[in-house]
Amino acid sequence: RPPVLVDGFGRAVTYLRVSVTDRCDLRCVYCMAEHMTFLPKADVLTLEELDRLASTFVALGVRKLRLTGGEPLVRKGFMTLVERLSRHLASGALDELTLTTNGAQLERYAAELARHGVRRINVSLDALDPAIFRRLTRGGDVARVIAGIDAAQAAGMAVKINAVALKDDNAKDLPDLIAWAHARGCDISLIETMPLGEVEQDRTDQFLSLAEVRRDLSSYWTLEDIPFATGGPARYVRITETGGRLGFITPLSHNFCEACNRVRLTCTGTLHTCLGRDDASDLRAVLRSGADEARLRAAIFAAIGTKPQGHDFQIAAARPAVARHMSTTGG
Ligand code: GTP
Ligand code: 5AD
Ligand code: SF4
Repeated sequence: RPPVLVDGFGRAVTYLRVSVTDRCDLRCVYCMAEHMTFLPKADVLTLEELDRLASTFVALGVRKLRLTGGEPLVRKGFMTLVERLSRHLASGALDELTLTTNGAQLERYAAELARHGVRRINVSLDALDPAIFRRLTRGGDVARVIAGIDAAQAAGMAVKINAVALKDDNAKDLPDLIAWAHARGCDISLIETMPLGEVEQDRTDQFLSLAEVRRDLSSYWTLEDIPFATGGPARYVRITETGGRLGFITPLSHNFCEACNRVRLTCTGTLHTCLGRDDASDLRAVLRSGADEARLRAAIFAAIGTKPQGHDFQIAAARPAVARHMSTTGG
C-alpha cells in the first residue's frame, strides 16, 4: 500500500507522535519552566477524540504511532486508549504502537502495555546519580525509573534509553550511562538540547555537540556505524567493547530534516508539522464541528501540505526557536 500523506517536499508522513497530556509528574529543567500553566480540561481532547484523530492518520498511511506527553502515563484512562489503538496492530495497519515515558510510573503499567502489543518503549533517563537526577527533574527519584525499566524488560519489551546531553549537568557521566544501558541490554540515544520554550536554564551554556561527544567516546571505544532504522531521527553506531547500540540525535550539529517522516498531534488536537516551527493546524475545531471522515481527511491533507522544509534551530540564539515547550509536543 503506497503512503497517502506526502508533503510539499516529497516526504511521506508515516509516523505520528500523539501527545496525550501536557502534564508531567517530573519537571526536567531543559523541558519545562519551574512554573508552568497547564491546559484547562475543556481544551483537552477526550480519549474518544484522540482515538478518532489517530485512527484517521492510520487510515491515511501512518505506520508508526508514538504516544507522548508531558508524561503519557499520567493521563487518566491512558491504558484504555492504548488498548483501543492496538486494534490497528491486530489489523496489520500499524507496524508499531509505542510510547516515550519518563519511566516514573512504568513499573505499574509495563505488563499491561506489553499485553496491548507495545514491544519497544523509550524511557528518558539523563543521569544515574540520584542527586543529579533529582536536580535535573526537579524532584524525581531515579530508583523509580530503574524499577520501571526492570518491569518493562521483565514484561518482554525492548527498552531504549533517551538522554539529553548537557555540558555541565551530565557530560562527564555519559560513558557510565551508556555502559550501564548496554550492560542491561538497552539501546541508548543521546540527544542535543533543543531551544523550545523559555526555561530558567541557559540552553546555550548547556549545549553539547554530539559530534564532540562522539569524538571523545571514540578515544576509548570502537564506534562502528550501523544501519538501524526505527523511523526515528537517531543515527546509530555499535560499540564493539559493549556490544550495544548507541544513537545520536543531532538536530543542531547535523540536521536530519531532509528525511523527516513525522508530524505531531497535541492533546488539544493541534497538528504541528515540524518540531522546530510554529506551523499548526487546529484539527479539534474540525472534529468538534461535527465533520465527517472526508472533511477530517481533507483538513489533514491540507495541514500536511504546509509542512515546512525543516527547523531553524540556532545554537547560540538569544530566544527559543519556538515559544511552546517540549512538553506540549512530547519531543
Ligand atoms: P525511535 O522510534 O526509538 O527511533 O524513537 P524517536 O527518536 O522517534 O522518539 P523519541 O520520543 O525517543 O525521541 C527522542 C528525541 O528525538 C526527542 O528529544 C525528540 O524531541 C527528538 N526528535 C524526534 N523526532 C524529531 C524530529 O523530527 N525533529 C527533531 N528536531 N527532533 C526529533
Ligand atoms: N531538547 C532536547 N530534548 C528534549 N527533551 C525534552 N526537552 C528537550 C529539549 N529541550 C527530551 C526528553 C525526552 C524526549 C521526548 O525529549 O528528555 O527524552
Ligand atoms: Fe516531563 Fe519528559 Fe519534559 Fe521531563 S522531558 S519534564 S519527564 S515531559
